[in-house]
Amino acid sequence: MPVIKIHGMIDPHTHLRDLDWSHKATFETETKAAIAGGYWAVFDMPNTSPSTINAERLQSKLERINQTARCDWGLYFGASQADNIDQYEEIINQVCGLKIYNNSTTGDLLIENQEERDKHYNAWSKSKLIAVHAEGETVHDILDLVHKYRQPTHFLHISTKLEIDLLTQAKVDGLPVTVGVCPHHLYLTEEDVSTLGGFGRMKPELKTKADQQALWQAIDSGIVDIIESDHAPHTIAEKEAESPAYGVPGLETNLPLMVQAVNDGRLTLNRAVDMLSTNVQKIWHINVPAETYTVVDTDATYEIKRENLHTKCGWSPFEGMTVSGKVLEVWIRGQRVYDGEQILSQRGFGNNLFGTGA
Ligand code: NCD
Ligand code: ZN
Repeated sequence: MPVIKIHGMIDPHTHLRDLDWSHKATFETETKAAIAGGYWAVFDMPNTSPSTINAERLQSKLERINQTARCDWGLYFGASQADNIDQYEEIINQVCGLKIYNNSTTGDLLIENQEERDKHYNAWSKSKLIAVHAEGETVHDILDLVHKYRQPTHFLHISTKLEIDLLTQAKVDGLPVTVGVCPHHLYLTEEDVSTLGGFGRMKPELKTKADQQALWQAIDSGIVDIIESDHAPHTIAEKEAESPAYGVPGLETNLPLMVQAVNDGRLTLNRAVDMLSTNVQKIWHINVPAETYTVVDTDATYEIKRENLHTKCGWSPFEGMTVSGKVLEVWIRGQRVYDGEQILSQRGFGNNLFGTGA
């Protein structure tokens, strides 16, 4: 039974909800899900309700997550169409980065105008990265800005061959770009939407088999830096509605799906560990505290079932799949926070990895 230790697993792309969307999920429920999924820390996106686009809203979000999180965390600030660049200096030391939405999805933070995007790139300090939602040709537009400002930029949830090709060239050209890929784009395609219905709807949408193949190849060739969940819980009712909300949960299935890929011979264990922990630490300049690790039995096999999940939304697009990789324990800063069944940390145990918290 190969049991391994992974030091400091971080998911840099999650939507923990809470605030006005506590019916979907809360900082407390989703940090429990993160721990059950093997994670030490998660970074929360700014498309909450209300969105995290000024210092006052950031402050109240910091206070709320600081009081309730069970694992460590970071928060993104959101670029807004209403031009919030005057806020950047005040907030930059408290956040993990700036998020710019360049294509439409859940929330109201879309910026489609290239001149507007340019203003945000110009104003944001190069000391912290910008994470972008950019699909298809929009990747090209953002690469123009990366080229102009030499601003470290993380491309979230990359899902097509075209995007991989553009980012491969950007890396060859020496641009400071990194690439994130989500397990739902690695394991599901547009062909699954007829079976999954609303539970298979997310942004970016599920793609073709050829796109999926390009993602696995990009993992093999080293172009992909990070496996991120884009954990985006919505209630079962919201997913069964006529126009289902976009987004799927993933915090509790990322690690087993990658261990399964290792056992299937798709990649090495070292490569999986790099994409789930070491690369995230490097890209965000994070030092892992002592005694912060996840113990995983890479042989243990089980079926993904909704009744075993901790996420408040209570479902997964991967239900029924058999995977390997059972999380046996999680330790954070010398404290055992998971014993394989129960979350052992208290509300408020989690720290902000950026700045001093609230
Ligand atoms: C995310 C959400 O629900 O907040 N939805 C999604 O489909 N991924 C937003 C996002 O990251 O695009
Ligand atoms: Zn997202």
